[in-house]
Amino acid sequence: MDSATDPYAAIFPVDGTPFYGSLLAHGDNSEILRSLTSRMGVGDRPRLVYLDPPFNTGEQWIHYEDSAATEEWEAQLRLRLELVRELLAPDGSVWLHLDDRQQHRGRALMDEVFGVKAFVATVIWQKRTSRENRKAFSSAHDYLHVYAPIGPKRWKLLRNGLPDTGTYANPDGDPRGPWRSIPICVQAGHATASQFYEIVGPAGTAHWPPRGRCWAYSESRLKELDDDGRIYWPKNGAGKPRLKRFEYESQGLTPSTLWLAAEVGDNASAKKSLMANHLAGDVFDTPKPEQLLERVVSIATNPGDVVLDPYLGSGTTAVAAERLGRRWVGIERSIQTINQFVLPRLAEIAPKSWTATGTVAGSRSAALVYSDGHAARSA
Ligand SMILES: C[S@@+](CC[C@H](N)C(=O)[O-])C[C@H]1O[C@@H](n2cnc3c(N)ncnc32)[C@H](O)[C@@H]1O
Repeated sequence: MDSATDPYAAIFPVDGTPFYGSLLAHGDNSEILRSLTSRMGVGDRPRLVYLDPPFNTGEQWIHYEDSAATEEWEAQLRLRLELVRELLAPDGSVWLHLDDRQQHRGRALMDEVFGVKAFVATVIWQKRTSRENRKAFSSAHDYLHVYAPIGPKRWKLLRNGLPDTGTYANPDGDPRGPWRSIPICVQAGHATASQFYEIVGPAGTAHWPPRGRCWAYSESRLKELDDDGRIYWPKNGAGKPRLKRFEYESQGLTPSTLWLAAEVGDNASAKKSLMANHLAGDVFDTPKPEQLLERVVSIATNPGDVVLDPYLGSGTTAVAAERLGRRWVGIERSIQTINQFVLPRLAEIAPKSWTATGTVAGSRSAALVYSDGHAARSA
């Protein structure tokens, strides 16, 4: 796209120049994604794209309409996913949030655009804890389809674990610091013969793995670990051996695919917190909880990385990214939503940094601001 045909040419940096800070963009996301793709430097490509599109519920929400023919809805989403694929950092991930009405179509589109090998997981988020009695079934959860073009194995090495809140202690004064013990028997599904053997502990007690399980280590490896003081023998040496996992080694907990409202909030708590912040007018119908987005952002990115949300809505992703020290790009086509929700929320978390005058939004350091297609640069 050249600058003659690109309405956003004036506001995005030219190719190769660094994209600094964060950007709130008002307009249709397909146009803005296209413009970003030709302009964002390689090092500034988003490492996380979170998409929370209209779910095609057939409802007219207060702030946006959510009904389209299925084919039209699919075509629109396919186009956005294709644009996201062009823009995404090579080691990035894409998270598509949908409910049970369209999640199967969304997943098929993700397969089509990113390839089946890019599939990482589908997270179930408990969006509701009360019962909805007007429907045949009370829909209590949404789906987040997670894809990483580098594939799940390589992406696992780059993603962050969840905070490990387990307690560590150092009862034996190990110079390596505090530790806790974890079992050394694992499911025997992929075991080799070398993982089934008798272990005799320091107190002379013999141990075998329980039925259906095996030792995590071969006999020789277990001996090495024991010689290195990494095996804990409970009950004064008579208990089953356990591995000492040191605090310094902890890389966080592997996220599970089930995210409960008690951990990351639900729709009701997200709405309540928007209302509690005295935002003017009606509340946004479909905000996601900040804790949910904080978890997504912290798994998929590191401080300084860019997070992109092409369906920004009330701005939850921007708030989460800002709070966690990530740069972000948020795109929202409703100026009413930007003015009523996004700007006040941003002003609240970074009060001195945001210019929220009229319909123009600016970021802390980016100073790229615009609305209604009229470009402006500010300090
Ligand atoms: C489900 S809401 C997103 C909610 C958001 N995650 C939050 O926590 O508030 C979808 C949003 O996408 C916006 N939207 C829909 N189509 C769009 C498009 N083509 N370009 C930009 N924004 C769009 C709607 O105006 C709406 O605010």
